[in-house]
Amino acid sequence: MSSLHCFFNSSIGRKWIVSITGLALIGFITVHLLGNLSIFLGPDAVNGYAANLHHLGKLLWIARLGLIAAAVLHIYFTMLLWRENRQAHPQKYAVKQTLETTLYARTMRLSGLVVFGFVLFHLAQFTWEWVNPESKEWMDAAGRHDVYRMLVSGFSNPWVAGFYLLSVGFLALHLSHGIASLFQTLGLTSEKLRPRFECAGKIVAWTFFLGYASIPVSVFLKLLSN
Ligand code: HEM
Repeated sequence: MSSLHCFFNSSIGRKWIVSITGLALIGFITVHLLGNLSIFLGPDAVNGYAANLHHLGKLLWIARLGLIAAAVLHIYFTMLLWRENRQAHPQKYAVKQTLETTLYARTMRLSGLVVFGFVLFHLAQFTWEWVNPESKEWMDAAGRHDVYRMLVSGFSNPWVAGFYLLSVGFLALHLSHGIASLFQTLGLTSEKLRPRFECAGKIVAWTFFLGYASIPVSVFLKLLSN
């Protein structure tokens, strides 16, 4: 019990939690992206995908609870680490290093905050359907929720599409640094390999951007339409 207590109270233990929960969140955005890309196979595919998800019932709720727990722990322990870092590093450290670390830290904080705000809007729009409540009634010929129509109509608003592009850009920025950092924390890389992990992290991050951005952009270009 006390070693667990020590783990949660140590800086490395906290970094581990941030990294493991970060990995879980990356797992979610990977599965979510693959599911969303089924929109390019047409209304039947994406509506069928969403209906199958909802048919998972209890399993879906277990996954959702896991996702919420990962997000809460990720944010909570990141905030603890920042607070400790600030207390442990009074201002007069080597100028270059301080500048570099604070620039990264600031970008991570800002991008994390934007992604968090985006997810709240996103849930309100497509999960709770508060933005366009009439979309709750939209059904396809097979009697399933017409997710295709909901997405196309949502992204037909250029402000909404633009906000999504900006937000997934911030998500990519967050991951650009986050992926390499989590490998380092988990001890899966070395000082020598770090630049390669940095590079691979950026490639993965901007691949997520392209994947997610492709949907609002395709609606904007009328490649996807009702
Ligand atoms: C263009 C990009 C995206 C599209 C088209 C999209 C689409 C959707 C749709 C249709 C739902 C509702 C699913 C349903 O209840 O049937 C949903 C839920 C959700 N999305 Fe996205 N999404 C996008 C990007 C993102 C991103 C970047 C994130 C995270 C950073 C995200 C996180 C979530 C979460 C947490 C849920 C709730 C999942 C649940 O209720 O179980 N989405 N998304």
